[in-house]
Amino acid sequence: MQTSWLVVNAFLKGESFARMESLLSKAAAEQDIELLTKTSTDFIREDTFFAAPRAAVFLDKDIKLAQRMENQGIRLFNSAAAITLCDDKTLSTLAFEKANIPQPKTIICPMTFPNIGYTHLDFLDEIAQQLGFPMVVKEGKGSFGQQVYLARNMEELSAIMRTIKPSEILFQQFIEESAGSDLRLYVVNHRVVAAIKRVNQSDDFRANIEHGGVAFPHTPSAEETRLALLASAACGTDFAGVDLLLSKDGPLVCEVNSNAHFTGLMKATGVNPAQHIMAMVKEVL
Ligand SMILES: Nc1ncnc2c1ncn2[C@@H]1O[C@H](COP(=O)(O)OP(=O)(O)O)[C@@H](O)[C@H]1O
Ligand SMILES: [Mg+2]
Repeated sequence: MQTSWLVVNAFLKGESFARMESLLSKAAAEQDIELLTKTSTDFIREDTFFAAPRAAVFLDKDIKLAQRMENQGIRLFNSAAAITLCDDKTLSTLAFEKANIPQPKTIICPMTFPNIGYTHLDFLDEIAQQLGFPMVVKEGKGSFGQQVYLARNMEELSAIMRTIKPSEILFQQFIEESAGSDLRLYVVNHRVVAAIKRVNQSDDFRANIEHGGVAFPHTPSAEETRLALLASAACGTDFAGVDLLLSKDGPLVCEVNSNAHFTGLMKATGVNPAQHIMAMVKEVL
């Protein structure tokens, strides 16, 4: 029997994490792998590294820890570089642009300093000129739709800018025809293993389950599959949940989640991504 690690954050807990951990351990056992859970604080002790496996599933977003583990020669699923790109939407949008992947028109907010903030907001006029209203504003680091906002006019846009912390922010064209719905394609090892369509029947434009989105199984088109694989590859993920928006001009990439929770998708489709992930880890071990 081979051994691998499952690395989780020491402070962020929850039912969904526990369920994923159990699904991954079970899928590992099916591959004759013993999957040992390590929490991020375990690595403060240097002797933790003495019995390091060749590969580990990294469910944390602690990219410095990930980099440290890679420095020790451990192959991580996902890599530090992939998690870095996915965890900041302003970085992933640049990766999509570089790879010519269709996405909503996006403008990255000019950077400021924490002790200075945005001393004037004149530049919002030019952004409004280019994107029009309503427009979508996203904080670089955010999940479950919690840091994604809709500004219907300049007053709302200025109010959002005054409320959110000056950090990585992007402004995006609102894909009105897809409001309240999106596609989530789950990619493992360069293959789409399952897909759902999420529909929010309330008047919220976000399709996230956490905001009322309901998941339905979805059979992706060839173009949707192609796009999800390109986006996942652009971010360098081994496994990821890729969100697509269906625009009138075809599918667009919304984001790539290196740390996507898969229990909802599993319930809707019957596909267990943990089995695909552990089969990929087995290849490397
Ligand atoms: N440009 C957009 N136009 C229309 N809807 C959008 C746009 N961007 C995001 N959304 C909606 O908001 C949801 C959350 O945005 P997303 O970028 O995926 O952030 P999160 O990481 O919080 O899930 C998406 O699933 C989608 O339903
Ligand atoms: Mg999303």
